[in-house]
Amino acid sequence: MKFGVLTGGGDCPGLNPAIRAVVRRSAKFGHETVGFRDGWKGLRDDLSRPLDPGAVQGILGRGGTILGSSRTNPFAKEADAEKVLATLARHHIDALVAIGGDDTLSAARELHRRGGKVVGVPKTMDNDVSGTDWTFGFHSAVAVAVDALERLRDTADSHHRAIVLEVMGRHAGWVALATGLAGAADVTLVPEEPYDEDALLRHVTAAVAARGYALVVASEGIELGPRKGAAGAKDEFGHELLREREVGAELARRIQDRTGVEARSAQIGHIQRGGPPELFDRILATRLGAGAVDLALAGRFGQVAVLRGPQVVGIPLDEAVGATKVVTADWLDLLHTFDA
Ligand code: F6P
Repeated sequence: MKFGVLTGGGDCPGLNPAIRAVVRRSAKFGHETVGFRDGWKGLRDDLSRPLDPGAVQGILGRGGTILGSSRTNPFAKEADAEKVLATLARHHIDALVAIGGDDTLSAARELHRRGGKVVGVPKTMDNDVSGTDWTFGFHSAVAVAVDALERLRDTADSHHRAIVLEVMGRHAGWVALATGLAGAADVTLVPEEPYDEDALLRHVTAAVAARGYALVVASEGIELGPRKGAAGAKDEFGHELLREREVGAELARRIQDRTGVEARSAQIGHIQRGGPPELFDRILATRLGAGAVDLALAGRFGQVAVLRGPQVVGIPLDEAVGATKVVTADWLDLLHTFDA
């Protein structure tokens, strides 16, 4: 068989281990692999490179993706969709492994509906893909955010300030939740809960009274009330670039104005997407990449390899895409145990 592989959407730690696993697992059974560059753009524009085991040597611990990525939606225009199918035929691809988040996997589902032989691997630092316990990229990205929070703690403590750390995560609060829990924030704001300014100010004031400073973690996706001006720029899948709203900076302004506590903010942004994958992400990406090859070898096209408890299993792409996996009530209950 000839395998194709692509990585689409925002990069995250774990993509390279997943690519390596696809190549090594298919090679183990005597199959070859070609990599398509820059996500679906590579299939639309026929940009590829051969990937033999030598080509993936030494990439297990590297961040980013050796294939490149983009937020190209190949099914936005019918002419592009036809180009994708033509590229697959030209390269005689028997199985395509699409590694990505909700957008990339939605495109994979559309390809499957049009007869394409495709399987999926879920990834995203946001951890918001349905049907899988975790996505790789998340643990590594949160570790960076926790480190950032610890550094901010030193400055907040030294200067008796409130500091707000704004983290990524779109409309799911997993990154903020885990950063706040693992970094002992005084308040953590997630999009799953309505913004409660009185509670925020109360917690900040209590923390400052107790030990002289306060740490707040805010997800970029929270809504602070009616917005001024038009919504910001959007990507090809229609998602607004949330970091441009700068909710962390706005929260710091409100805290300082309304409590008198000196406040600052930091936006971690893409810093948390780079760097080497942590242990958990290396292993998960390796298992899911290999699992996707196994699905294809079993003829289970239109499925995605996911983690369910201790096991990697295949589920239909339909189950994995379309609905954002958001933070559940039990997690929120645990989170608020630790509010200041
Ligand atoms: O989906 C991953 C993510 O990092 C989000 O957390 C964030 O909102 C978005 O990508 C940023 O996208 P871009 O890298 O295109 O600015």
